[in-house]
Amino acid sequence: MGEKEAMAILANNPHDVTFHPGQSSAWHAKQRFILLIAGTGGGKTTFGAHWSMDEFTRFPKDDGIIVAPNYKTLNQGTLRRFFQFYPPGKTGEFKKNDMEFIPYHSEGGKIFIRSAENPEESLEAAVVRWVWGDEASLLKLIAWDVIQSRVGFLEGRVCFTTTPRGQNWLYYDFYKHWRAGNPDYFVSQFPSILNPKYPRREFDRVRETMSSSKFAMRYLGSFEKLEGQIWPNPRFKKGFRIPRDWKTWVGVDFGYTKGHETAFIFFAESPKTERVYAWNEYYRPKLLMSEHAEGFLKCCEDKQPTDVFFDSAAQQEAAELEAYLKSPEVRARYPWTKKLKFMNAFKSVELGIDAVEEGFNSRKLWIFEDRCRNFQDEIRVYARDEDGSVPKVYNNACDAGRYGYASLFAASSKHKKRKAAIITGI
Ligand SMILES: Nc1ncnc2c1ncn2[C@@H]1O[C@H](COP(=O)(O)OP(=O)(O)O)[C@@H](O)[C@H]1O
Ligand SMILES: [Mg+2]
Repeated sequence: MGEKEAMAILANNPHDVTFHPGQSSAWHAKQRFILLIAGTGGGKTTFGAHWSMDEFTRFPKDDGIIVAPNYKTLNQGTLRRFFQFYPPGKTGEFKKNDMEFIPYHSEGGKIFIRSAENPEESLEAAVVRWVWGDEASLLKLIAWDVIQSRVGFLEGRVCFTTTPRGQNWLYYDFYKHWRAGNPDYFVSQFPSILNPKYPRREFDRVRETMSSSKFAMRYLGSFEKLEGQIWPNPRFKKGFRIPRDWKTWVGVDFGYTKGHETAFIFFAESPKTERVYAWNEYYRPKLLMSEHAEGFLKCCEDKQPTDVFFDSAAQQEAAELEAYLKSPEVRARYPWTKKLKFMNAFKSVELGIDAVEEGFNSRKLWIFEDRCRNFQDEIRVYARDEDGSVPKVYNNACDAGRYGYASLFAASSKHKKRKAAIITGI
């Protein structure tokens, strides 16, 4: 089906809208990767719904994915709007149990409807032609990695629609490519009031009452730095092979529920420069401890970590992990686990945070950006609430990183100066 027929479907729609300039520029864009970054109520989800059906109509034999960061957004925002334009029973069949929508003009293709709490699992479908991600700034960096591999085979297209939330992956791994002139990317950025339906009075009212950077993000669609960012100047670098004889150790944070993955951050220190590298990560939700432990071993590669620092509130989990890693069965495969020392992590959250901050500022601490995807992603949105408290979700890699980095220096006599600095908070 060609573009004409696709437009005919749109034209037949009782909710037909005339796109405003922020939408229509994106509608005519031919690039593979499209982003509508705009104020709330600007007409982003509306656009995404039509864009998706248009892609489907061009390739009715192929599958596509509609994805939102979580189930609530998917159901109450994304799908509700999509079905307003393309109602089940009139335009296609909605299989609720499988979360699939099959338009009547399908020639074998389906639309998978997914939430991305655990993107590696929920976006597992092999090959798709297109992906629409709504509220994409809340997706994890790892979801963007997975989405690219899903559309990679067919060189398919991706459309993201969202308000910005600080300078996260969407800024660094998408928007900046467009700004740099990469021809695969197209970005349309606009304020809420470009939508003729958006009430001007409300827009002006909020402008008066909201902090200017929050207003710029939520109503202008601008990528402001998050207020209260905890590590505003992290240091990332491309990974290299860590020599086997460097000291390596691990920071560990356990978690079982959504937003509380189990995270291990693997550190190494260069004996020459004393630089510390977070060189690998493990990051998985809700698995058995034995599975986490196997993941731990896999991440070690040819290295033999000496210390494991864990949250002192998680004694039982740590004991379980230790028991598994030191079991005869594992020791037969990895004799070095016998010597692994499990220790309570340095306790103070604030001083630990300062230690990491000092590590970044003094160029001591570096994170391998190609391997520590979740750690990198969390850091960029790791910000204090208005009341100053640290994040309680999506903090797993940050916690594990803090345990690993701050504890070693608090525990080691070799690092007397840094130890003193950490413990006294200077
Ligand atoms: N081009 C447009 N012209 C008029 N109304 C629009 C247009 N685009 C969207 N709308 C309407 O504006 C409202 C908000 O749209 P929505 O797509 O949910 O915004 P967002 O996802 O940006 O918050 C909806 O009622 C929608 O029908
Ligand atoms: Mg929306």
